[in-house]
Amino acid sequence: MPGLKGSFLRADVVTMPILELDDIQSGVLRPRPTPYAATYILFRIDKPEGGRELIRRLNAVVSSAAHPENPGRDTWVSVALSFQGLKALGVPQASLDSFPLPFQQGMAARARMLGDIGESSPEKWEKPLGSSDVHIVLTALAADTEHLEAAMQRARQAYRELGGITAIWRQDCHVRHNEKEAFGFRDGISQPAVDGSGIPGSNPNEQPLKAGEFVLGYPDEIGDSQAIPQPDILGRNGSYLVFRKLRQRVAEFRRYLKENSPTREGEELLAAKMMGRWRSGAPLAKCPLHDDPQLGGDLTRNNDFLFKQDDPIGYNTPCGSHIRRMNPRDAEIGGLARIHRMIRRGTSYGPDLPDGVLEDDGLERGLMFAFVGAHLGRQFEFVQSEWMNKSDFFGGTDGKDPIAGASDGTGYFDIPKRPVRKRLQGLQQFVVTQGGEYCFLPGLRALRWLTELGT
Ligand code: HEM
Repeated sequence: MPGLKGSFLRADVVTMPILELDDIQSGVLRPRPTPYAATYILFRIDKPEGGRELIRRLNAVVSSAAHPENPGRDTWVSVALSFQGLKALGVPQASLDSFPLPFQQGMAARARMLGDIGESSPEKWEKPLGSSDVHIVLTALAADTEHLEAAMQRARQAYRELGGITAIWRQDCHVRHNEKEAFGFRDGISQPAVDGSGIPGSNPNEQPLKAGEFVLGYPDEIGDSQAIPQPDILGRNGSYLVFRKLRQRVAEFRRYLKENSPTREGEELLAAKMMGRWRSGAPLAKCPLHDDPQLGGDLTRNNDFLFKQDDPIGYNTPCGSHIRRMNPRDAEIGGLARIHRMIRRGTSYGPDLPDGVLEDDGLERGLMFAFVGAHLGRQFEFVQSEWMNKSDFFGGTDGKDPIAGASDGTGYFDIPKRPVRKRLQGLQQFVVTQGGEYCFLPGLRALRWLTELGT
């Protein structure tokens, strides 16, 4: 093109992929509204035609990331399928074989590597989680339980009339007061920015991640687009969803804090050291000595920090704390943190344990944890197995995540301190896995393709 300077036509600019937001389920990229109530419903497909008809009806109410305002009125719906679900729908074998091995095997088969042993082992999971009956995962969320229940009544009517599918499990969840999870920490703060999505991330110091980290069919942090499930129409604009029902032993957690701290202030500091944030959400990186609730609630500041320069040893935010393990940011670690990032959507279930209660009341409470990303292996599985349950990546010995690691009462947690570090012994298992599954979140065109199978 005469007259135009080469630099004006840089190849990377011209060929930059445009994220097809109108084909991506809104739940993949769009943050959830706040507050909200959510429900997970699992279906078994008894006859392929029934499954396809359910997907067809659900497809009509799934909104895209381009238009998050939803066709389902006041409810947001996401649809995902397990490997067994794709099989039950009649997806051809060649296509099934093109999915990555962890997805084909399902979560229960990966339990040992994930640290789901002992009380968390699949034999102890809530039925039917971990079984080959889990086929379709419907997630619906609305601003409050009344709106959600009204929408679910409409949905129930629609799927009850349908033959060939059975609703086999339901889990209701909600955002607790001040967005705090059951241990009392503000959650849902840190999320990565995704290149080309137009949705800002929460850390102004983090470069947006390449879209291929979260959506299939685009270049990722490693390079060009990776192989995606075939045919292209099925894989493109899809993502993986990992959901895990995690029971939280709130009374045990509170007792552990009490037994290991001489004062109430000491308990709060210990809790903050274990998490890397005060319960208000304020990061130790910005206020290491005392809580700052205003900072904790300020979305423009509460995730604006790195570790490498200000805190290489972890005097403020221990290297073994939950948030530093789950996202070491720019800290010196073995490997590259950016290829292990994840979008998280966690919501609480069960009643609150009243403040100050130290005895377990026998009621179930915890977190429905959800991961969204394009790489089950190097994102969710890697973080869960290497960063959650080992310490060598930051030069530690064999400590585990003090909040959600698979500890067995013999674990410890190191708090760097001058002149000598403090080591807490006898770390208990505060989080027990009750089940979960690996699922595929197809793009909207892929959902339509699935409904046309066998025609
Ligand atoms: C019941 C179990 C869990 C609880 C109570 C919990 C709680 C929290 C809280 C309170 C935060 C800080 C707020 C925020 O940054 O949004 C956080 C951050 C995070 N958690 Fe968890 N979490 C749990 C399990 C998990 C699991 C299983 C994973 C992944 C395998 C995970 C990955 C992360 C990540 C990636 C962050 C953000 C770290 C950052 O960017 O600073 N969490 N979690």
